[in-house]
Amino acid sequence: MRSIGADSIAVLPAAGERVRSRDTLYDYRPDSDLFYLTGFAEPEAVAVLVPGREHGEFLMFCRERDPEREAWDGARAGPDGVVADYAADDAFPIGDIDDILPGLLERSERVYYSMGSAAEFDQRMLAWMNALNARRQRSHAPSELVVLDHVLHEMRLFKSRSETKLMRRSVRIAMAAHRRAMRTCAPGMMEYELEAEFLHEFRRNGARYAYLPIVAGGANACTLHYTANDAHLEDGELVLIDAGCEYEMYASDITRTFPVNGRFSEPQAELYEIVLEANRAATEAAQPGNHWNDPHDAAVREITRGLRRLGILKGRLDTLLKDEAHRPFFTHRTGHWLGMDVHDVGDYKVSEQWRLLEPGMVMTIEPGIYIRPETTGVARRWRGIGIRVEDDVLVTSNGPSVLSEDLPSDIDGIERLMSSRE
Ligand code: GLY
Ligand code: MN
Ligand code: MN
Repeated sequence: MRSIGADSIAVLPAAGERVRSRDTLYDYRPDSDLFYLTGFAEPEAVAVLVPGREHGEFLMFCRERDPEREAWDGARAGPDGVVADYAADDAFPIGDIDDILPGLLERSERVYYSMGSAAEFDQRMLAWMNALNARRQRSHAPSELVVLDHVLHEMRLFKSRSETKLMRRSVRIAMAAHRRAMRTCAPGMMEYELEAEFLHEFRRNGARYAYLPIVAGGANACTLHYTANDAHLEDGELVLIDAGCEYEMYASDITRTFPVNGRFSEPQAELYEIVLEANRAATEAAQPGNHWNDPHDAAVREITRGLRRLGILKGRLDTLLKDEAHRPFFTHRTGHWLGMDVHDVGDYKVSEQWRLLEPGMVMTIEPGIYIRPETTGVARRWRGIGIRVEDDVLVTSNGPSVLSEDLPSDIDGIERLMSSRE
């Protein structure tokens, strides 16, 4: 409320429920912004912040208690519960919003609202604002509509101590699941059998998946968003698993690539070592005071150097770097912010410049090499191999803290883990 200032109002609607098929719904996922500010996780709610308002600054509209509906769908807080348990100054039934919200808007100069994420609510906001404008002679209307994203997402980018605690827990659960998959994996299994290890480990720890797990055996790993997970895992191939959970609304996002039979072949190890070097160089570059792109530059340099060493790229290193020769093989960026959303909010540039890394930011470091089977000009031994090593990194004043460092990513560590059954 200090950030938006007096004379302002912020309006945040809850996410809608979504139909999966006919009368079954998808798992309800609260809107991250609303949850960040309120901790409230029910649909059909609107939070309203009115800094400096005498009769309460934090208002909520929510569903009313309804014993019959609650017997079917579960408990609702109701307006009284929202005041008692969520620290709202005042709360009203969502059905009364048409009568109450325009009056609150009328008193404000600036309305902070993120247009474009809730189409239906956008229409209602526009209707209320238009009605106030039409009556401008007789009443006051806000003169500015400002997206809330910038102010709020800047706050979400910097994780508090309690947030990093939850993120560490989210990462710990995901690491345990990756360990289970490595220990369980054997030639002849189906990719979805490994996926099941993740879903079980997530749920038994009170978490859910943060995104559909990618379990990609062999050349499937070259399809970045492969989620079919329905192929056989073949002896002699690698499997790439990109899977993270969401714990108390905070995501982890981890990738490991390991041999289905527990032993890296020589060509696999040659490419793997390059990706690992890139991961380590990028992590080392995640220092406070460095800029956002430094880890990516470091990863690109290592991957270009490594591919040149193997003869996959030919020419002078500086020319290859200048020509971005890595692009056919390393097709994505080295990371993204991580938080309540897997690809979390927060600007990557400030005034057109890559922003500086600061303590409290959490990011992924995830370089990869993908050599599609049909690639020409690359020796056959490397074709059909896709490798990514993804860690979650908290920037601290002492440098990068790799939240996922307890999960082996070096060849020895992975082979040792895969041969152990404890
Ligand atoms: N799992 C999505 C990503 O790695 O960005
Ligand atoms: Mn990932
Ligand atoms: Mn990621």
